[in-house]
Amino acid sequence: MGKKITVIGFGNVGRALVNLLLGSNHKIRLNIMDPAERLSGAFLDIQHALGMQPEKRVYFNDDEFFLDSDFVFFTAGVPGKHGASRLSTVVDNTTLVRNIFERKKLNPQMFVIAITNPVDVITAAIIQYSELPAKQVLGTGTFLDSMRFSFYLAKEAQVDYRDVQALILGEHGTSCVPILSRSSFKGELLHQYQLFTQEKIDAAINQTINAAYEIRKTEPGTSTAASHCAFRLFEYLTDSEEHQVAVSVLLTSEWLQLLELEKTICMSVPAILSEKGVSIMEPLKLTEDERLHLKMSAQLLSEYQTFLK
Ligand code: LAC
Repeated sequence: MGKKITVIGFGNVGRALVNLLLGSNHKIRLNIMDPAERLSGAFLDIQHALGMQPEKRVYFNDDEFFLDSDFVFFTAGVPGKHGASRLSTVVDNTTLVRNIFERKKLNPQMFVIAITNPVDVITAAIIQYSELPAKQVLGTGTFLDSMRFSFYLAKEAQVDYRDVQALILGEHGTSCVPILSRSSFKGELLHQYQLFTQEKIDAAINQTINAAYEIRKTEPGTSTAASHCAFRLFEYLTDSEEHQVAVSVLLTSEWLQLLELEKTICMSVPAILSEKGVSIMEPLKLTEDERLHLKMSAQLLSEYQTFLK
């Protein structure tokens, strides 16, 4: 019958994600949850498209289906105000997580992929309130920032985007940390190319940090790239091959030690994803500057994740 997937929240990201899922070749059953009024038209529109998708089923606001889902995408929440930090919505959105996940009898194998901001804190809140094993909960995190950083580096250096593989770890937000010691062009470290001057790298970092702000100058919110990241995580988690990606996860003791943290938090570090699940990688060898920067990002996030047991 195919995987049972619930998308919680039918705003900009939820809609984009639903379109990706419905347009994909995956055999799925999809449940869309959103209590907003005036969605009947949008839901009807989706039902009409199902004629072309005989192998898929769609449900709306089905609580039982949610509890028994194999995958849940969490996109619900109040959006931040244009120009405000992603952390500004923390109280509203963690409360929402609590209402949705606390004391629910969930499928113990369920994977939850968080997209709502502040995504690192939301990932932690889902772990806390759902009581699912931490390795089944992840946030899109700096997967998106790494993609954007690659894009802007390529743009600055006027090279093909596909040849650049940049890495960003830490908060999905202004304290995110570019890891140049692990960023490459055509498989070689960026620093080996004169093309990537410090000036161009700095410009690419700034544009990455301001990307969502730039998009929101003309759009109500960002949606396409974030939903593609979330969809890709689902594809990785249903694939027999292993995929390495930076995602927001509950840090392991090795990472806590490296970053000199006493209590664990969620934040993006490299992980391996496949149908076997999520495996957090051993800490990378970072430069001292990168390590300190990452430690600062972690310290900032820990102030917002004090609810974690
Ligand atoms: C963005 C949102 C998802 O950066 O935070 O597009």
